[in-house]
Amino acid sequence: MDRFESYVGGLFAPEDPVLLALREDADRAGLPPIAISPDTGRLLQVIMRAVGARRVLEVGTLGGYSALWMARALPADGRIVTLESAPAHAEFARRHLDGAGVGAQVEIRIGNAIQLLPALDGERFDLVFLDADKEPLPTYLEWALRLVRPGGAIVADNALWGGRVLDDRVTDEATLAVREFNRRLATDPRITGIVVPTHDGVAIGIVG
Ligand code: SAH
Ligand code: DHB
Ligand code: MG
Repeated sequence: MDRFESYVGGLFAPEDPVLLALREDADRAGLPPIAISPDTGRLLQVIMRAVGARRVLEVGTLGGYSALWMARALPADGRIVTLESAPAHAEFARRHLDGAGVGAQVEIRIGNAIQLLPALDGERFDLVFLDADKEPLPTYLEWALRLVRPGGAIVADNALWGGRVLDDRVTDEATLAVREFNRRLATDPRITGIVVPTHDGVAIGIVG
């Protein structure tokens, strides 16, 4: 973490004991250490408030760390649907989100997002947060455009992908997909987009 990130994170995104315990338990349980950073959690909350988010779709639950940040920015009747392919991750998240007191607001669906997304067709979300596998990102973007209401937001973690998007010599499938996602976010006339160079890059697009 650089000193600007430390300053901003320390001031705007201090973790309370519940967020801290979730992250530490996730490490102990052997979950991969790839949850969003606290400043990314705060950025998600800011975007949620800006678009008046009541219904959120997340792709990639892991241990529920990002879902907890987002649940805390929901109104009382708000709701998050989050998709997770690894049952062990979903079970960990279920337990910790219940323990954090936001369990009733977060529905976890277990399965590959590519298989789960069609069941959501026709529903309307205020924000879609993409944070799962990178290879299908262009497909996830198409789904997000179907599912987000006009004026809603599409957000994606890892938009800079450890810097690999900058290096034309890197041509693995995940990197190509992140690059293509960013290009569409920048050029699709339906989207007003930007990548904020927070942490590993946070892509934000406002739809319609
Ligand atoms: N949003 C989480 C981090 C997600 S890490 C947080 O910040 O706390 C990425 C997660 O996506 C992992 O748990 C992984 O199992 C899951 N995942 C990967 N590919 C997936 C897919 N195709 N469908 C659903 N989940 C997937
Ligand atoms: C990785 C990191 C992430 O934040 C993510 O959402 C998916 C994968 C990774 O480093 O492999
Ligand atoms: Mg991520």
